[in-house]
Amino acid sequence: MQRDVIIACDFSSKEACLNFLDRFSGSRKPFVKIGMELFYAEGPEIVRQIKARGHKIFLDLKLHDIPNTVRKAMSVLSALDVDMVNVHAAGTVAMMKAALEGLTRADGTRPLLIAVTQLTSTSEEVMQKELLIGAGINETIVQYARNAKEAGLDGVVCSPLEAAMVKEGCGAGFLTVTPGIRFADAAADDQVRVTTPAKAREIGSDFIVVGRPITAAEDPVAAYNRCLEEFCK
Ligand code: C5P
Repeated sequence: MQRDVIIACDFSSKEACLNFLDRFSGSRKPFVKIGMELFYAEGPEIVRQIKARGHKIFLDLKLHDIPNTVRKAMSVLSALDVDMVNVHAAGTVAMMKAALEGLTRADGTRPLLIAVTQLTSTSEEVMQKELLIGAGINETIVQYARNAKEAGLDGVVCSPLEAAMVKEGCGAGFLTVTPGIRFADAAADDQVRVTTPAKAREIGSDFIVVGRPITAAEDPVAAYNRCLEEFCK
């Protein structure tokens, strides 16, 4: 799999998102991540419009429901022609298998399917005391990644610092999609465990998800090119 930089388009309206993407009209079209905020505000039409402009799309909706519902929902998303979608691994192997079935088109093609293991906002303490999951957080992440692999998924979303452990547990070909990226000379914002694009590459991430370091940059195209330079070269 070719390494790539995915821009997290965390905008609240279509106008803001398309104005941002207009800046890339003369250059390489970035792979973009559309999350719940934009999708729920604008609906599937925003996906079609961005797709029509030539971008690959990671639709980050983190599905988690009974297998039958997820299968049907995934078949709708697959028809939108997105390139990557995700589910919560906590939904079980049966749910992830159903997601994969729903995503697979009649011609056998399908978007990449990635699992969320434990959200980085969940601490080990909350996981153990509130959710009553007795194992340690790293053990849980690797087990959820293994479950995703068993279900036939392509990889997981994780912190770059967890990527090595996931690769060790699931093999080098199992994809890691990693947010929490910051340039060495920039602020971390609200991210706690951050890594530079170059370091993420060294650790073995396959895709980095970069939001504010590009979207809030004075020159987003230059910031994107800097990510490509550090991560993909
Ligand atoms: O602006 P920033 O680079 O922090 O954006 C990172 C993106 O990755 C956001 O869309 C955020 O929701 C997402 N993300 C994350 N950490 C996770 C999973 C997703 O930062 N564990």
